[in-house]
Order: sequence, then C-alpha cells, then structure tokens
Amino acid sequence: MNILGIESSCDETAAAVVRDGREILSNEIFSQADMHALYGGVVPEIASRNHITVISRLAGEAVKKAGLTKSGIDAIAVTAAPGLIGALLVGVNFAKGAALALGVPLIPVHHVRGHIAANYLAFPELEPPFLCLAISGGNTAIVDVRGYTDMSIVGATHDDAAGECFDKAARVLGLPYPGGLPLQNLAEGGDDRAFSLPHAKIDGHPYDMSFSGLKTAVINVIHNAQQKGEPLDRAGLAASFQRAVSETLVPRAMDAARELGYDTVVVAGGVAANKRVRADFERACEAENKKLYIPPIKLCGDNGAMIACQGYYEYLSGVRAGQELNAYATMDIDKVIF
Ligand code: KG4
Repeated sequence: MNILGIESSCDETAAAVVRDGREILSNEIFSQADMHALYGGVVPEIASRNHITVISRLAGEAVKKAGLTKSGIDAIAVTAAPGLIGALLVGVNFAKGAALALGVPLIPVHHVRGHIAANYLAFPELEPPFLCLAISGGNTAIVDVRGYTDMSIVGATHDDAAGECFDKAARVLGLPYPGGLPLQNLAEGGDDRAFSLPHAKIDGHPYDMSFSGLKTAVINVIHNAQQKGEPLDRAGLAASFQRAVSETLVPRAMDAARELGYDTVVVAGGVAANKRVRADFERACEAENKKLYIPPIKLCGDNGAMIACQGYYEYLSGVRAGQELNAYATMDIDKVIF
C-alpha cells in the first residue's frame, strides 16, 4: 500500500511516499528556516503562505520520485494536529483535495505520533511496546507506546519544549534560528561544568519537566556578564546548557522505562539530533542493558515519510477522515480525535 504523507505543521513543507508503512519511496522537504531566521523564530503567517506556494509542487515531486503516477497512491495521510493552526490548515486542505480527486482514503495523523514512527522507518525490526522520549520544537513528552496507535503520556514539560528552549538560548547567545545545531556546534570544546544551571523538578510529578527557568538562567548569565563588562565563556555556557537539558531528559526517560518494565528506549523529534543527548542515552542504555533506537539525523526533524508511516498504522487500526476534517493547534498524543 503506497501512502502519500503530507506535513506542514511548522516551517517545513514536506511530502513523501511510503510503501506498507516501512519503505521510503520518496521524501521531499522544503525548509523555510532561512525565511524565518530573519525574525529569530517562526512567523506563522509567513509559514502558511510558503506552505500554500510549494505544497502542490512538492507532492507532485514526491509521487514522481517514488516512481509512481497519481493512480499509484492508495491513501493520503496528513498531519492534522498539533502545530501552527494556519500552517496545519494548508496541509489538511491540500490532503482533502488530493484524497477527493484521487478517490482514496484520507488519514489524519498526530504530529508527535509521526515523530515516533520515524523510528519504524529507520529500524525495520522495531515494534511496540517501548518507552519513547519525544523531543521537538513544540513538544516534549515521555510516552508509553503500547501499540502503534495505543499510547499514553507518562510525563511532559509544563512550559517550553526542549527544542524551543534550545532556540531561545541560542538566540540570546547571538546564534541563528533554528538554534539547536548552532548551539551544539558552539558547545563543542566548551566546558560543560563552566556554569551551574538549574535542573528543574516538579513536586509530585517525577517524569514531568520544566525548561523556562533554564532559559531565564541563560539570559541572566549573559546579562550579568554584559552589565559587568566581563568576557563571557560562550562555549562553556552552551555546553553547560546542553548538559542541563540532557540531564533533565535522559534520567527521566530511563527511570520511566525501568518503572514500566521496558527494555527498549526510543528517542524521537528534532532534538533527538543533538549529539550530547544521543551520547548520554547511549551511555545510559549500555549501563542498563537496554536497546536504544534514535533515528538518523535526516529523520529526526519534520518530514512527510514519518506521517505516511504512522498513517499506515492508523489506517490499519481503522482511522479514516471525511471531507469535514479540521486541524487543531493542540491535541494530546493519547486523546487523538479528528
Ligand atoms: O521536530 P522538529 O523538526 O520540529 C517540531 O516538530 O517541532 O524540531 C525542531 C527543533 C528546533 O527547536 C531545533 O532547534 C531542534 O529541533 N534541533 C536541535 C538540533 N537539531 C534540531 N536541537 C538540539 N540539537 C540539535 N542538533
């Protein structure tokens, strides 16, 4: 079964064709990052306008690069939540039109479920159940993945997502948007103990997280140095920041895996590309003899293949949408209703 996956929840327009949920036939991504870099973050209206300009062309290219024609597409999967609402509406409306024109089923997909599914594309042997840490620009959650479409949140951030925190820390360090990779590069060679930054805990909720205090702490370190006219160890601050993020994420995910009795730990989302987070997970999983799955960098960020992949499993579980399908800016991963 060939599924065309459409993704437009933030600043990447993406279209891909995946066969039987696991085999990527094409994976086209148009990143708008340069257009938003000028403003230091995503400007929702600019994102929507760019999606609408490129989405038809990109979907056509995805079908062509898959070696197919339109008649070879058996279903359309689309990210319908969560994300920037104007951006989501472009993808959803395109997918509705495509499904109607081709006479094929329309399958709405939860964006974070898609990020988790990126691992099924990278690792053919991987099957639920497992514990997943989903860390992206808009979402940060520890998820109990019992089945392909059966999951629940074990812990989540109370404020900023991990990626959002990377982007904001990077911005005050004078780095371009999106800040995750530039901050990682700056941290190379920096002393990760140069600064003592907060590792917030939420009373009574051991798996929940908070990143807003960490962001404020980075801002304060920079302002203090500026006000005193002192030189700032930027590499040390970036490295200390990465350590604080990783030491917030990794132990919580490992504790949750232990408590739920899982031998498999999966990491997903844009921040899963981070070298420090990857290395800390590798060490932790080796020490506890757990299997670790983290997608290759190209499948960590937003893409259409992950949506087509999850769309396949949603399809198998009976999920279909009609032409009344809407998009939603927020939706819990375990309460998916379209
Ligand atoms: O998954 P994604 O492409 O979009 C969402 O679904 O939100 O994630 C984007 C986020 C951005 O915040 C970006 O700065 C972050 O992932 N990111 C990284 C790295 N590469 C991308 N964060 C830390 N280290 C990286 N190497």
